[in-house]
Amino acid sequence: MADNNATLTADGKDYQLPIIKGTLGRPVIDIAALQDSGFWSYDPGFKVTAPVESKITFIDGGKGELLYRGYPIDQLANSAEYLEVAYALVHGELPNAEQKADFYEKVRKHAGVHDQLRKFFEGFRRDAHPMAIMVGVVGALSAFYHEGLDVSEELHREITAIRLIAKMPTLAAMSYKYSQGEPFMYPRNDFNYAENFLYMMFATPADVDYKVDPVISKAMDKIFTLHADHEQNASTSTVRLAGSTGANPYACIAAGIAALWGPSHGGANEAVLEMLDEIGTVENVPEFMEKVKSREVKLMGFGHRVYKNFDPRAQVMKETCDEVLSALGINDPKLELAMALEKIALEDPFFIERNLYPNVDFYSGIILKAIGIPTSMFTVIFSLARTSGWISHWLEMHSAPFKIGRPRQLYTGETHRDFVKIEDRK
Ligand code: CMC
Repeated sequence: MADNNATLTADGKDYQLPIIKGTLGRPVIDIAALQDSGFWSYDPGFKVTAPVESKITFIDGGKGELLYRGYPIDQLANSAEYLEVAYALVHGELPNAEQKADFYEKVRKHAGVHDQLRKFFEGFRRDAHPMAIMVGVVGALSAFYHEGLDVSEELHREITAIRLIAKMPTLAAMSYKYSQGEPFMYPRNDFNYAENFLYMMFATPADVDYKVDPVISKAMDKIFTLHADHEQNASTSTVRLAGSTGANPYACIAAGIAALWGPSHGGANEAVLEMLDEIGTVENVPEFMEKVKSREVKLMGFGHRVYKNFDPRAQVMKETCDEVLSALGINDPKLELAMALEKIALEDPFFIERNLYPNVDFYSGIILKAIGIPTSMFTVIFSLARTSGWISHWLEMHSAPFKIGRPRQLYTGETHRDFVKIEDRK
């Protein structure tokens, strides 16, 4: 609802721009009135632009607050299972017992993938990065679910969400198994969501009595919850932008996976471990910090576009990290190195002045390593978890009329050059 207006004066003319308040957070200035003004707004990196209205997730970066559907992230991570959280993201509210049973059953039912999908895996080189495989095979799902799919039908949209949430652990584990040259493992009905993922990753057909350590499956489930959504981040905005053209939703999620892969976003958890490898030992930390300060490299797992105080996900992740490492009795020198790095960075004016704190990926990389997940799978796990968020945003967009996303630009290229034939070009 517009409470009052902001006035913008441009070229001597006043524009009344409505100020709209949401239920939480900064109000926004609606700049639609600029359409006929002769100006565009300019905001590289979308630092101050809200392209959508959403009811899914709220972040207060200053306070270090993250809410999914109004619930604080630490409460969800500590008291709810990932699939309950996924239900809340998709449907708007945590499930009651009956809704939970129904949703879990649907997810179980759709966890398998068409046998023909195996052929897509076989097209990749054995050493292909699992994220490259994920972009390909999740995109390939669009070929399996295209003809009969009518995105204007609510039921079709809902089944799409269930299929994606259900199949992601299976596809993620298959991408790992393929890289290992091991046979694919199929989901089992007696395992929960996180257990099934770990089983499909680590069991082989010979392991008839495969057991999943509950400490590990609980930590994995928490990792899924902490990564489930994060409002209009780069990959979610990518899914929304792709979705705004009416594209097939499986292809839209593949676009989200591609955007997530970069080291500034979901690829940071993998990059943290690579950085720790590069630093090597605690003695090398000061030298590495000098490189960071001279902007030769970034301290991966630090900093965030939105959080300028602390990342609430990182706090839960740090506690989980401590629990997992002590339960498993792991004493990894990498952890000691990570802790030394964290301590030095938190005390250094360079990081304090720029509000740079450890983000979720600083600790998630360490936990994932401790539970035996190979580094190349870190971002895949992020994509698995984020799928519930991505598809919830896609659903939200499709539940009301929307426009194709089509930004403008500030053109600074050449003007009116005459065409020169190739033989005359210097
Ligand atoms: N190491 C060293 N300096 C940094 C870092 C870092 N990790 N992050 C930001 N800075 C500096 C940056 O150089 C700039 O300094 P100055 O003002 O002197 O030029 C200042 O801090 C502000 O940074 P920015 O680049 O304007 O911040 P941004 O909001 O555009 O970028 C970021 C946010 C997450 C891309 C960035 O902090 C970064 O690259 N971090 C490392 C990668 C990382 O851990 N990403 C995971 C984010 S959490 C998972 C997710 O939600 O995707």
